[in-house]
Amino acid sequence: MQTAVLRTENLSKSFGGLDVLSGITFSAGENENVAIIGPNGAGKTTFFNVLGGQLPATSGRIFLVGQEVTKLPPDRRLHLGLARSYQINNLFFTLSLLDNMLLALYGAEHSHLHLLRSLYGRRDYAEEARRMLELMELWDKRFEIVAALSYGDQRLVEIALSLATKPKVVLLDEPTAGLPTSEALGFAAKIRRLTTDITLVFCAHDMDLVFNLADRIAVLYFGEILCEGTPGEISCNAKVQEIYLGQGSKGAAGNA
Ligand SMILES: Nc1ncnc2c1ncn2[C@@H]1O[C@H](COP(=O)(O)OP(=O)(O)OP(=O)(O)O)[C@@H](O)[C@H]1O
Ligand SMILES: [Mg+2]
Repeated sequence: MQTAVLRTENLSKSFGGLDVLSGITFSAGENENVAIIGPNGAGKTTFFNVLGGQLPATSGRIFLVGQEVTKLPPDRRLHLGLARSYQINNLFFTLSLLDNMLLALYGAEHSHLHLLRSLYGRRDYAEEARRMLELMELWDKRFEIVAALSYGDQRLVEIALSLATKPKVVLLDEPTAGLPTSEALGFAAKIRRLTTDITLVFCAHDMDLVFNLADRIAVLYFGEILCEGTPGEISCNAKVQEIYLGQGSKGAAGNA
C-alpha cells in the first residue's frame, strides 16, 4: 500500500438541497496518476473545487500527506503542496515562453516583483526552466512570445507553471478541453513526463488522455464513486459500460 498523498474521508458537498458529492472516500498515492471520470454533471469539477479549497466542504475531511486541510484556504493548501493549474489568462502573453517560466519559478519563492533581467542571472532557475521546457519539447520555442504558441502549447505551459512551486499533488480539470485532436495527441506523454515525481489527479472526458495517462481510474457517478480500478479493469467493468452505453465508443464518454 502506497502512502496517501491526498485523501478524503466521507467528503460531501451540497448546494442548497442539491447533494452534488455524497460521501467520497478517495485517495491518491505517491507519484500516482489518478483519473476521475464520469458523465457531465457527475460532480468532478465540484470535487476539485472542494479539494482545492475554492468551495467549502459540507461535511467530511481532506488530508494532504496526512495533515488535515479541510478548513484551510486555497493558498495554505498550495503552500502545503496542493496545486491546481493556472488559468490560461494567467500567462504573460506578450512575454516569451522562457520569461514566463522564469517568472513562475521566481514567483514560487517570492511574493514581490523583481526585474526580469536579473532573473536571467539565476542559474538554478535557468536550469529548471530548461528542464521543464525540454520535457514539454518547447525548448526551441523559448524565445517566442506566449501569444504566438498554439493553444495546446499554451495549455501545457499553464500546467508547467503550476508545477513551479514543486507541489506534492497537482489537480487538473480537463487539461485537453477545447484542444483539436491533432494537438491532444502527445499531450498525455508530456504531462506524464512533467509529473513523474508528483501525484496527479485529473478529470477528463477525453478517453485517449485518460487511458494513456492514468495508473488508476475512479468513476464518479451522481456524486458517488461508483468503482475504481486500473484502466484495464475499468474498461471492462459492466457498470461503467452501462453508464456510457449509448454514448458511442470509449472516446465519447460524455462531452467536455
Ligand atoms: N455553485 C453551484 N451551485 C449550484 N449547483 C452547482 C454549483 N456548481 C455545480 N453545481 C451542480 O453540481 C452538479 C455537478 O457539477 P460539476 O460541474 O461538478 O460536474 P462535472 O462532473 O464537472 O461536469 P462536466 O463533466 O460537465 O464538467 C451539477 O448538477 C451542477 O449543476
Ligand atoms: Mg467539470
